[in-house]
Formats: sequence, structure tokens, C-alpha cells
Amino acid sequence: MYLIMLALASIGLSDAEACSPEEYYQANMALSQYLGLDKNDNEKTKMRPLVYRSTATPIYVDLYVSSIINVDEKAQSLTTQVKMITAWPKMRWNKTMFCGMETFAAPKYLFWTPDIGIMESIKTDFGTKESPYVMLLSSGLVASADFLSLTTACKMNLYRFPFDSHTCNITLQSTAYSIHEITIDEITNANGITLKSKEIFQTQGEWELIRINVTKAIFTIIIEGLKMDQLIYQITIKRRPLLYFINFMLPVFLFLVLDVMSFCIDGRGTDKLSFKMTLLLAISVFLLILNDILPSTADQIPLIGIYYSVIFILIGISILETILVNLLKAKGAEKRSVETTATVTDQDDSVSDLNEEPSSTLNCCAPVQQNQQEKTCLGWTRVARIIDVIFLILYIITIIVFLSVLGKLWSS
Ligand SMILES: *[C@@H]1O[C@H](CO)[C@@H](O)[C@H](O)[C@H]1NC(C)=O
Ligand SMILES: *[C@@H]1O[C@H](CO)[C@@H](O)[C@H](O)[C@H]1NC(C)=O
Ligand SMILES: *[C@@H]1O[C@H](CO)[C@@H](O)[C@H](O)[C@H]1NC(C)=O
Repeated sequence: MYLIMLALASIGLSDAEACSPEEYYQANMALSQYLGLDKNDNEKTKMRPLVYRSTATPIYVDLYVSSIINVDEKAQSLTTQVKMITAWPKMRWNKTMFCGMETFAAPKYLFWTPDIGIMESIKTDFGTKESPYVMLLSSGLVASADFLSLTTACKMNLYRFPFDSHTCNITLQSTAYSIHEITIDEITNANGITLKSKEIFQTQGEWELIRINVTKAIFTIIIEGLKMDQLIYQITIKRRPLLYFINFMLPVFLFLVLDVMSFCIDGRGTDKLSFKMTLLLAISVFLLILNDILPSTADQIPLIGIYYSVIFILIGISILETILVNLLKAKGAEKRSVETTATVTDQDDSVSDLNEEPSSTLNCCAPVQQNQQEKTCLGWTRVARIIDVIFLILYIITIIVFLSVLGKLWSS
């Protein structure tokens, strides 16, 4: 493995051997002949190259991720720009005999090339124009570098959205050769790949590249009992959640705070009701946007869905409570107005602001007469007050408990 790394690293560092253009031309022709390219020698070029000590041809692969172009949560796919280097053994030559030539580019169609496919691929495009050449190295390797734009299927669990990270596999496997004919190995180890990928990483978008792991696996075709060698690149990416936090989570939290504060609105009950109604509508707009982003998966509802629904339900309940309290107050006011038209006392001025201050509502019923109607007047308004206070306390406790449980789930 180390030798291959060395061989690939030494490309371009040719000996400073003095060769006249004429000699260089001759050497080029000689090398082409030596490699069997002039006669299109099938045995030398078109057959799977065999190496000593093994029946299988080792294929060496490096895959660097240079951009994350798109992550589609709904389609469960990942689009990346990758650089893939594939190398496999070939004839070596003594470079001192050929004017110090270490590399030799030759038409790709003349050569046998490994049929490495990507198992998760939905769509593969060449990131640049496909090179019609492969590079031969004097150390006995053929290398081909491809820039690919890959769209691969990736199972994404959005439970923690927007604080989520995903691991997507890119599985390389030959489509026609079994493990006895082709083995696939990495050139650079996982740490090197990760480091290099981060170095050449082009995009600074929503997704951050965390790590690329490389593992080997064997794929068995059931009917034949045929085994195929696989090399799996596991790409771990993490979402940058700040924008979603500010745009999606903070406003809804503020709506909830506003809803709690609306208990302090001191005025006609209908004002309060329409205010809360507006909050509910605002949240439903956010729910619609969220629906566009998240897929509907059967197994687990994303936490953000729970966050929205519970806040929606809480505000709904608080609207119901406001309606109930309004009803009770209206009943109290009704009784009082009957009362006040009947009795003319010096405390009548408090009638104008019936359902506002507890003191004034108490005043309303303060007159010395102790008949039945007065008692019910005091009763209804009081009940409304008590329900309001108890509900507010329960409401705040529920919100605190809910948010802390959700926070725990999100951070776990
Ligand atoms: C390469 O060729 C040169 C000159 O013919 C010779 O001196 C040298 O030993 C050869 N090297 C190898 C590794 O065969
Ligand atoms: C990715 O590859 C690893 C290693 O073989 C495997 O354990 C995991 O299940 C694969 N993930 C998917 C989504 O196929
Ligand atoms: C990748 O490798 C590192 C170090 O061996 C390990 O901690 C991590 O869990 C691996 N990631 C995946 C997705 O397997």
C-alpha cells in the first residue's frame, strides 16, 4: 500500500535527464511499442492484468468529497462532488531506458478498466468532461482520476432536525467481477481522506463535513453464492442549525411568550381573543413551511414537529380558556346590570368598567343589600378570576416542563 502511495505521490518528479526532442520522440515511440499500444495488443492491454502471488487484480481507490451540493430530506438523497482516483497494476518499465519518462498518457479505450460502480447511485455525472486518457506510471500502475457529481440515496433520520447529522454510504463494487478476480482497497486511510477532503472542500453551506470513514465489506449474491468485494465510504455530515433556530424555532417560542403575556391584557375579552387567534394563525404559517422541508416518515415524528404541534395545541387550549372566562364574565356582567338598574346607589360609577379590576367587580357587588342576585354576580366574576389565575399557573408550569423535556431529547 505504501509503495502505491509513493508511486502516486512521485508523479511529476521526473529525473532531470537531458534528452533532445528527437531522442524524446524516439523514446516515446519505443515505450508505446514496449507497452503493446501500437499493435493494440489484446494480451497486453485489453485483458485484466494479473499480478504475482494472486489470482485477483487489486484495485486501489481514493475518494475525496470536495463539495456537498444538495441534501434532499424529502427524497432522501445526497448530492456531492467527489474526486475519485482509481489505480490498478500494469506493466512497469525502466525509466532510464526511456528518456526518464515516468508517466505516459494513453487513450483510455485501449485499456482494460475496472468496472467499479456505486451501489447507492441514483444519478452519476462527470463533474468535468470525461478524460479520454489514463495515466501509466513507470512503477507499474495505471491511474485514472475522475471528477464526479454523485447523487446517492441516503437514509436520513430527521428526528433531531435541525440539530441533525447524517452518515451516508458510498459503496464501491465491481459489477462483473467476483472477489476472486477483483479486490478493492483504499489508497489513503480514513484520516488522510478526511483531512484531504476538508482541505479541498469548496462549499461553506448548510452542511459541514465531519468525517469520512472507510470500511471493507463483502457482498454476496444469493442465487449464485457469488461474493463481491466492496469498499464503503461512510460520509458523516452535520447541519449548521443556526438559521433554522432563528427562523423557525425562536419565532414560535416568542409567540408562546406573547400568549402567556396576553393574560395581562387588561381590556375587553374579545381583544384578547383576537390577539390569541392571530398567534395561532402565525404558527400555522410556520407549520406549512415546515411541511415543505420535512418528509413524512412513518416511524418517528421529528422533534420539531412535536414542538410545533404542542405549542399549537397549548395556544388552542388557552383560547378555549379565554372563551370560557369571557362567558363567565359576561354572565356576571349581565346579572350586575340587572342589579344596577334596580338599585340606585352612590357606587354606580363602577358599573362602567365591569369586568376589569377585581376591586371594581367586588365593588359592584358591595352594596349592603344581600339578595340572591348579588351573590350570583359576585360568584360568576370570581369563578372567572380564579379559573384565569389557576390556568395561568398550570399553563406556565406545562410550558416549562414541556420545553425542558424537549430540550433534553434534542441534546441527548
Ligand atoms: C534500467 O536500465 C539501466 C540502463 O539500461 C540499467 O543500468 C539499470 O540497472 C536498469 N534498472 C533496473 C531497475 O532494471
Ligand atoms: C453503511 O455501511 C456500514 C458499514 O458496512 C453499514 O453498517 C451500514 O448499515 C450502512 N448504512 C446504510 C444506510 O446502508
Ligand atoms: C468513524 O471512525 C471513527 C474512529 O474510528 C469512529 O469514532 C466513528 O464512530 C466512525 N463513524 C462511523 C459513522 O462509523
